Amino acid sequence: MKVLGIETSCDETAIAVVEDGCRILSNVVASQVDLHTRYGGIVPEVASRQHILALVPTLRETLKQGQVSLPQVEAVAVTQGPGLAGSLLTGVNFAKCLSLAIQAPFIGINHLEGHIYAAWLQEGPPPDQEPGFPLMCLIASGGHTDLVLMRGHGEYTLLGRTRDDAAGEAFDKAARVLGLGFPGGPYIQQAAEGAQGLESLPKPLLKDTLDFSFSGLKTALLRRVQAQRKDPNNGQDPRQVTELAFAFQESLAQVMVEKTLGASRQHSCRGIIVGGGVAANARLRQLFRERSRIPVLIPQPSLCTDNGAMIAGAAFFRLRKGERHDLDLDLDPGLRLG
Ligand SMILES: Nc1ncnc2c1ncn2[C@@H]1O[C@H](COP(=O)(O)OP(=O)(O)OP(=O)(O)O)[C@@H](O)[C@H]1O
Ligand SMILES: [Mg+2]
Repeated sequence: MKVLGIETSCDETAIAVVEDGCRILSNVVASQVDLHTRYGGIVPEVASRQHILALVPTLRETLKQGQVSLPQVEAVAVTQGPGLAGSLLTGVNFAKCLSLAIQAPFIGINHLEGHIYAAWLQEGPPPDQEPGFPLMCLIASGGHTDLVLMRGHGEYTLLGRTRDDAAGEAFDKAARVLGLGFPGGPYIQQAAEGAQGLESLPKPLLKDTLDFSFSGLKTALLRRVQAQRKDPNNGQDPRQVTELAFAFQESLAQVMVEKTLGASRQHSCRGIIVGGGVAANARLRQLFRERSRIPVLIPQPSLCTDNGAMIAGAAFFRLRKGERHDLDLDLDPGLRLG
């Protein structure tokens, strides 16, 4: 089944065609990052207006790259939430019109479920085996750090979440403190390369809960930078930026890995899925692979950040159970999983 997936929850206008939940025929992401960089964050109205400009050209490009014609599309899926209301509205309305025009089923998808189903996506032939359930899912993104138990397709229990900053948000704020670019994750990862491990920062593990808290780590980093700047012998030494970027990334990655592995043991999971933009982090990926005794599925880095393929992929598993939505479906900026 060929599903067209549309994602406009934040600052990426993304459309893809995916066959049977795993085979990507085309996956086009029109990023707005250059538009928002000068503000140091996403400006919601700018984002929604840009989606309106980008949706039709992105659809054309997706169909062209996938050599798919509109009548061949068997279902239209779109991110229903969570996300920015104005941005979601553009995608949801576009998807409804498209489904009406081509008379194909319409379905709204939870963006976080999309981040999980990115683990099923690949560009080659489908895998012989599905990962065995139950799975422990860590969704670490710009707005979420959620630990979710997945007992089967579409069956979720939320076990833990961040009490303050999301992991991606923490990376973005830390990059700002260190004078690096936006979005912060890739800049921190790059800046940390070549560090000697001379600095260390607290590892906020929060005992007896599967919740996370990263705001103390961010404050510890800020204090360290402020202390270094007060020292008249200490200018903006790039080696210090490297060491601090490394220490910050290390603390965050270790906390996420330790908590996820602990939760997977508690629930006798057969595998782990890591998704969301922060799952693109090379150190996090390495730590998971080194420390886990059960299989860890992490999408390739370009499929960790927002894309339409993950929405189409997640939709397939719902559509095959007979689910679909009416065209009066509303978007939900605060949609939860589990
Ligand atoms: N290599 C990386 N290392 C760490 N963080 C990264 C990396 N690449 C991207 N990120 C972070 O991922 C986040 C973006 O992820 P994503 O696109 O999934 O977020 P979002 O869609 O805005 O939020 P949500 O999915 O919670 O709605 C940013 O905060 C960015 O800094
Ligand atoms: Mg996302």
